[in-house]
Amino acid sequence: MMFVGDSLNRGQFVSMVCLLHRVLPPHAKSMESNMDQSLTVFRAKDYNATIEFNWAPFLLESNSDNAIVHRVAERMVKKGSINKHGKDWKGVDVLVFNTYLWWMTGQKMKFLKGSFNDEWKEIEEFTTEEAYRVAMKSMLKWVKKNMDRNKTRVFFTSMSPLHIKSQEWGGQAGGNCYNETSLIEDPNYWGSENKEIMQVIGEEFSKSKYPITFLNITQLSSYRKDAHTSIYKKQWSPLTPEQLANPVSYADCVHWCLPGLQDTWNELLFAKLLFPN
Ligand SMILES: *[C@@H]1O[C@H](CO)[C@@H](O)[C@H](O)[C@H]1NC(C)=O
Ligand SMILES: *[C@@H]1O[C@H](CO)[C@@H](O)[C@H](O)[C@H]1NC(C)=O
Ligand SMILES: *[C@@H]1O[C@H](CO)[C@@H](O)[C@H](O)[C@H]1NC(C)=O
Ligand SMILES: *[C@@H]1O[C@H](CO)[C@@H](O)[C@H](O)[C@H]1NC(C)=O
Repeated sequence: MMFVGDSLNRGQFVSMVCLLHRVLPPHAKSMESNMDQSLTVFRAKDYNATIEFNWAPFLLESNSDNAIVHRVAERMVKKGSINKHGKDWKGVDVLVFNTYLWWMTGQKMKFLKGSFNDEWKEIEEFTTEEAYRVAMKSMLKWVKKNMDRNKTRVFFTSMSPLHIKSQEWGGQAGGNCYNETSLIEDPNYWGSENKEIMQVIGEEFSKSKYPITFLNITQLSSYRKDAHTSIYKKQWSPLTPEQLANPVSYADCVHWCLPGLQDTWNELLFAKLLFPN
């Protein structure tokens, strides 16, 4: 089984590993990353099974493909480049894709026509929805061409919601998920997740000849403003006195605590994997 995508999919991968590893004795499992951390492999030796994570935040080749250093000033994706990462997905029995957050730049998305090494770059700009549609079409085309539907199940996880603005759920201005301890009770709550993106997913998947199992986790997760890692995460650099005095400023309201919400995503995955109909 291989998870392919961004840090949210990495979270779902880690959740899956946590769910499985407690039933395996210490000598019967291992977890390793390659040098550049683009691939992490959990091995359940007695079962000849691996659960893997492949960092590919746009699925297509991009200038953010370094799994460790990927803060770039201007995100750029290469057109028609899905084989760059796709070559690492071949032969997998269960593929779980995601991609969303990296497309949300608030600007037009830049597509490169040539190579990242070209000195003079030819660039085409797309709106967020157009760009995302290009990615979905590329992914579905790749799956159809390279996967055998009798052998490989393909899953796609929808957008993981953020809680970076309390006003979206009627909280005070300036707040975020920090110090939130209860869920949002309004069953119609949606937040600020991009509905056009959901529509693009629905349209493109309904055209797909290869069956894709969709894990529609967006709304059920949007209630969980209490479930983020918030201030309880590893910080990349020491916090400044100003930050420490104002925890809201460094709370992570994108990623999720484990154990937690993402275990539920995997329960859905489990149910759809073993009981497809
Ligand atoms: C383990 O899995 C690999 C890859 O699917 C396969 O080539 C190999 O034959 C398997 N070994 C056993 C003992 O099942
Ligand atoms: C998949 O399985 C079906 C039914 O067993 C069979 O008719 C079809 O040829 C298989 N397709 C491939 C690509 O092997
Ligand atoms: C956290 O929430 C509690 C309960 O709502 C409130 O009493 C407290 O002042 C909040 N703390 C901060 C630092 O915002
Ligand atoms: C996912 O679920 C939401 C409701 O939670 C629904 O509005 C949306 O249409 C669903 N998306 C797809 C592609 O089925």
